[in-house]
Amino acid sequence: MIEKNCYILGIESSCDDTAAAVINNGVILSNVVATQKIHEAYGGVVPELASRAHQQNIVPVVHQALQQANIDKKQLSAIAFTRGPGLMGSLLVGTSFSKSLAFGLDIPLLDVNHMQAHILAHFIKAEGQKAPNFPFLALTISGGHTQIVRVSSYFDLEVIGQTIDDAAGEAFDKISKLLGLPYPGGPVLDKLAQLGNPKAFEFAKPMVPELNYSFSGLKTSVLYFLQKQEPGFIEANLNDLCASVQYTIVEILLYKLKKAIQQTGIKHVCIAGGVSANSGVRNGIESLGQKLGLKTYLPAFQYCTDNAAMIAITAHYKYINQAFEPLSTSAHARSNW
Ligand code: KG4
Ligand code: ZN
Repeated sequence: MIEKNCYILGIESSCDDTAAAVINNGVILSNVVATQKIHEAYGGVVPELASRAHQQNIVPVVHQALQQANIDKKQLSAIAFTRGPGLMGSLLVGTSFSKSLAFGLDIPLLDVNHMQAHILAHFIKAEGQKAPNFPFLALTISGGHTQIVRVSSYFDLEVIGQTIDDAAGEAFDKISKLLGLPYPGGPVLDKLAQLGNPKAFEFAKPMVPELNYSFSGLKTSVLYFLQKQEPGFIEANLNDLCASVQYTIVEILLYKLKKAIQQTGIKHVCIAGGVSANSGVRNGIESLGQKLGLKTYLPAFQYCTDNAAMIAITAHYKYINQAFEPLSTSAHARSNW
């Protein structure tokens, strides 16, 4: 059992968001995210700039998280950090900071897997949010990953399908770039898609075995299609192009998810990761749920994209199990659960 005044500080720095959150006995007290704007000028995340921005942001972000939680750092019971997967330079900032703070305060350290945290964000206590029942399937869709995960307990997770090339978020971002949209394109494309016709244009869907995904062919199919058009075509058809691309990505995602549901017989399904904020994905999962009689779980918007509340909730369960990490630990760019 966890003591009542147990406060855990969670730190996330795997990509281009510097985030910190405080959790008290499973209840999130603060959740601060500093999104790095510097990458917009380059149309994608520049790893070296990301780690430098984390160094600048981490102290004020942690300070703000403690302040919002109304606690002093001396009250902390443990420090949790994202160990991976992610960009090595970015991960090292959060890892080194957490190790130093844990050492200085003489409190335990907890390492957290970023993808597991995206899924366990569903267990954050929030109004109107119901946690999934085990076992459930998680469609984990972010800028770096696309996975179907069988979740049998907080710590028993098995990837049963995944992308063999680009991730779903990467497909959104790269195709947005082809359409001349600013980075990160996913949320912008989503907004425009809601104004267009999803059946206006047809793009290639991949043929990959088992429960795996592929998104690089879709990107190429959109590229070749656009190259064949007259100048001004994108501007004149932007909403329809966005709607058609989004429709295709959602169809690809749901086709394999449906297969996974049939194969496993598991009828509790959640979505997680940045792309779970997408309106097409959210509507698609809801309709699939109604059609197949599923219990579906959609994360609150603030817990879709990278945040530290998801690190803190995962750490909460690890703390209960006393699954601490030695100070000699290190970041892992390709971390497994
Ligand atoms: O989980 P996340 O914040 O970071 C990673 O772990 O990668 O996911 C970021 C990804 C980006 O590719 C971003 O474009 C995408 O999530 N994303 C969206 C939407 N909101 C974020 N993609 C489509 N529609 C959205 N509304
Ligand atoms: Zn993420």
